[in-house]
Amino acid sequence: MSLLVVDNVSVEFKTRDGIVEPLSGISFKIDAGEILGLVGETGSGKSVTAQAIMGLLPFLNGRVSSGRICFRDQDLLAISEDQYQKIRGNHISLISQNPMTSLDPVYKVGDQIVEGLRQHVVIARDDAVKRAVNVMTSLGIPNSEKVFFQYPHQLSGGLKQRIVIAMGLCADPHLLIADEPTTALDVTVQAQIVELFRKTVAQRNIGLIMITHDLGVISNLCDTVVVMYAGHVVEKGRVQEVFANPMHPYTRALLKCIPKFGMPERSLKAIQGNVPSVSTFPGGCRYHLRCPDMKPICMTEAPQTLQAGNGIEVQCHQFGPNWREEL
Ligand SMILES: Nc1ncnc2c1ncn2[C@@H]1O[C@H](COP(=O)(O)OP(=O)(O)O)[C@@H](O)[C@H]1O
Ligand SMILES: [Mg+2]
Repeated sequence: MSLLVVDNVSVEFKTRDGIVEPLSGISFKIDAGEILGLVGETGSGKSVTAQAIMGLLPFLNGRVSSGRICFRDQDLLAISEDQYQKIRGNHISLISQNPMTSLDPVYKVGDQIVEGLRQHVVIARDDAVKRAVNVMTSLGIPNSEKVFFQYPHQLSGGLKQRIVIAMGLCADPHLLIADEPTTALDVTVQAQIVELFRKTVAQRNIGLIMITHDLGVISNLCDTVVVMYAGHVVEKGRVQEVFANPMHPYTRALLKCIPKFGMPERSLKAIQGNVPSVSTFPGGCRYHLRCPDMKPICMTEAPQTLQAGNGIEVQCHQFGPNWREEL
């Protein structure tokens, strides 16, 4: 049994200009003890994927319009909001991209961690305080005992982010979704936090979905990687395989953007152009406007997902049956 199965999921939002579809037919799975990296440029649909799994779309004028999301064999799209509330936090917790959406300005941060913890586990207040302070210290928060009694506005952005991570870890979920948790932090703290995620997953045998645009984090931390582009999963597989032999031109371009040690700065590549916005996704392959390998078929037909060797799945015409005839 997989911990979480996302099967052919599409998402719609109602906007003033009509209905938009930021996710179209995305699929991936994660097992207990696994770390899955979700990667792609800004606007590719990573946060919407997290919101869909957390059942938050109804609060955002959105919905899953087709597909299935199953958590430990339970169909999350079929349960009531009351049941979802029990799953959120207890079983699946989200460390969100913006700490201010998770922190309440009128309570001390330590109390917020403790309250979160005590909602999910039966634990005496004193023990919960100790556990919170320990987690805060292990996240590299200096003077944790003092910070415990401070309010969010008294803390720097980096400290607030670490408080939100502490809340996510204290809840002791089966599945943790971390949405760009280290983006606002400096590199040494990032490394500590990555290490803490790794330890937590191994010790508690939980699943972790790490959303990031940092391919360094993916290669250091993750077992599998799901590459998203404009609301599609364009490639997925074991990190080692994908990094050794990236197939999709988008994955190849992303990997070329990683600076390598000793490389002169001018040889860094940036991908030309931007992710199209959700209202202007092009027909055919959504990457074709930026793709160096583009052929006529890419403009007119959406590529199917193909099983490549070594467990990689890729959504690109190059690896399909019609490519040669196109030459
Ligand atoms: N509540 C919403 N209503 C309408 N469109 C949205 C909403 N939330 C996100 N989007 C759109 O969905 C697309 C994917 O967004 P998002 O998942 O936040 O990207 P990422 O996290 O990969 O940067 C974007 O084009 C964004 O503008
Ligand atoms: Mg995001």
